[in-house]
Amino acid sequence: MGGKLLKLGVLISGRGSNLQSIIDHIEAGKIPAKIEVVISDKKDAYGLERAKKHRIEALFIDPKAYPSREEFEKAVGDELEKRGVELICLAGFMRILSPYFVNRFKNRIINIHPALLPSFPGLHGQKQAVDHAVKIAGCTVHFVDEGVDSGPIIIQAAVPVFDDDDEDTLATRILKCEHKIYPMAIKLIAEGRVSIKGRKVTIKGTKKKEWEVFNPPLEL
Ligand code: GRF
Repeated sequence: MGGKLLKLGVLISGRGSNLQSIIDHIEAGKIPAKIEVVISDKKDAYGLERAKKHRIEALFIDPKAYPSREEFEKAVGDELEKRGVELICLAGFMRILSPYFVNRFKNRIINIHPALLPSFPGLHGQKQAVDHAVKIAGCTVHFVDEGVDSGPIIIQAAVPVFDDDDEDTLATRILKCEHKIYPMAIKLIAEGRVSIKGRKVTIKGTKKKEWEVFNPPLEL
């Protein structure tokens, strides 16, 4: 590769399977990026172990150690800035970020959500899809703005919902797509192909083939 690597900070709260997928794609040389630090707000997040296994710095920052949400976010932001992080990837980070943090890193925070936004924002997107009995579900990578899962959409992938699906079977199907589109979105940003105007994200040179990777024709 040899070119400049985009410096990433990944924020997690739990098992970190999306983090793992990002790590694997970087190690396979598919994304011109480097994870500078992984930060968790939960001490026992398994994602911290995953980071350490790959010799990536892993920090637990305890929200309870700070008098307010903003003080906690300031500490997180300072650690990210100290390491020159250019893109912050939320990967199962179970906190809503305040306008303070969002504006400090404007258009430099992305998130993966397990639903086809703007449907089913917030918690349990997969359960919301099953309860609503939609026929197509999926996942979304988007920039983070001040709302909940409301920022400009970068990539989405769709999966079918079958009659006998429950929250778990659907979540498993969606997760497989998450593990593809999150690294893909980071790759596109790292390659400098992503621009935002208002709420519209444009990806330079998107090929039909790339779309089909995530949205294969349904087999009947
Ligand atoms: C994923 O379903 C993601 O879409 C949501 O939280 C979950 C995190 O899973 N934001 P993991 O920690 O990456 O395995």
